[in-house]
Amino acid sequence: MNIIVTQNYDDLSLKAAKHAAEFINANPGVLICFAAGNTPLGVFRELVDMHKRNEVDLSSVYYTGLDEWVGLGIEDEGSCIKVMHDALYDFVSKENVLMFDGLDPDTEGQCRKAEDWINRHGGIEYALLGIGMNGHVGFNEPRTPDVEGCFTVSLDDTTKSVSMKYFGKELPVTTGITIGWRTLYNSKKVVFLASGKEKASITASSLTGLNTPDIPASLFQNHPDLTVIVDKDAASLIDI
Ligand code: PGA
Repeated sequence: MNIIVTQNYDDLSLKAAKHAAEFINANPGVLICFAAGNTPLGVFRELVDMHKRNEVDLSSVYYTGLDEWVGLGIEDEGSCIKVMHDALYDFVSKENVLMFDGLDPDTEGQCRKAEDWINRHGGIEYALLGIGMNGHVGFNEPRTPDVEGCFTVSLDDTTKSVSMKYFGKELPVTTGITIGWRTLYNSKKVVFLASGKEKASITASSLTGLNTPDIPASLFQNHPDLTVIVDKDAASLIDI
């Protein structure tokens, strides 16, 4: 595991964007999985700026959504599809992107469609992931099953209470749809991001604690190509 500790969030965003852009430039045509969530927003801002300066061509690769709140669609504040389009995918060719449709009542159909997209592109080459307050990755919640492909999940209480920060109001979300951890683990390159003091404890447990499905992020400790980019605050409890 390669751990990069940055001074602050802006530095984290810039370093992670350069890391992703370098990968995209060297690997046209591959499939990328970018997490939604607040942490990567600065990375996406940097990537869009780089794209505008012709330093990276964001349309030279394909993208898969990581997860979605069942019941929310592109019009809904805080849905992964809206967050990702506003931040990044509006700058990318439409046919290069597949996100889950949280409004489709056929969640199984959504899973099979995403699996087909992932398989058709030869699997995920680069996954940029966040660490949830409970250690979840995507919606692979604590005590996650070892799932290859995609599945629907009953959301953990921590995830439900944290969700307010995305929606700006309370929404009765109970279910998520996500790429399973095994498929994420099979990504050639995995990058984890964490920022802020409130993530210090879960970041330390995820990176240096027990390797356990109770903390899904910890299951990536032995990934053959894992880079962790954390700011000083999130890294403050890691013993390195
Ligand atoms: P955050 O979400 O980046 O908004 O903290 C991380 C996650 O829940 O995966």
